[in-house]
Amino acid sequence: MICSKPTGPIPSPMSQLNIAIILGSTRPGRNGEAVAKWVHGLANKRTDARFELVDLLDFDLPPLDEPGSPAQAKYTKGHTKKWSAKVAEFDAYVFVTPEYNHSTSGALKNAIDFLNKEWTNKAAGFVGYGSVRGVRAVEHLRLIMAELQVATVRAQVGLSLFTDFRTPHVRTSRHAREGSEHPAGSGIAGAALKPLRTEKIPDDHNVLLAEGIE
Ligand SMILES: Cc1cc2nc3c(=O)[nH]c(=O)nc-3n(C[C@H](O)[C@H](O)[C@H](O)COP(=O)(O)O)c2cc1C
Repeated sequence: MICSKPTGPIPSPMSQLNIAIILGSTRPGRNGEAVAKWVHGLANKRTDARFELVDLLDFDLPPLDEPGSPAQAKYTKGHTKKWSAKVAEFDAYVFVTPEYNHSTSGALKNAIDFLNKEWTNKAAGFVGYGSVRGVRAVEHLRLIMAELQVATVRAQVGLSLFTDFRTPHVRTSRHAREGSEHPAGSGIAGAALKPLRTEKIPDDHNVLLAEGIE
């Protein structure tokens, strides 16, 4: 863990937090839209952070078409620059993911792969849905987030197609509603990680810490 001495007045950790609710399904007739709106509605009852619904459809991303590594951030395409600027705005993310063939959607994986540093040292929570509550999709997303150095919130929401949906609206069970409080915990983790993003820490120092050498 990196410890640093705060300088000046300490702001309330949640006061300036921006949290994106990322809608990870782009399919015509997607259930994801109702889920994301439901999550957004619940999140907006909180006063300690700002929540924005980010719909992948609005970014029109093709299959990854940047020649360079996203880690270099030398983007050549307008759609990448627009997506990069949007993702960079946030301290934390709540991923709303469908389960397709035991994983997240190709569209969401592709959108994540477009970028790198925009995600780093932030936090994420998950809302999965599908025949078996999207749990395998969320497990895969957790692995992807680990590679991007995103801290993930343990609690997650899982919605069942069989019991939680009354098309076109989401009808949630008590279990799902209670769980929905927790992905907002990504805000708390996002706040905790903010110093890592705002202070210049040499890369080699981070490597040493990661290897437990210091
Ligand atoms: C290509 C495809 C694969 C799917 N695979 C799974 C699966 O492996 N497990 C599951 O629980 N549901 C699966 N489903 C059901 C979806 O999770 C469900 O249809 C969900 O509503 C999809 O999200 P969307 O409506 O936002 O696209 C699959 C659906 C599609 C279209």
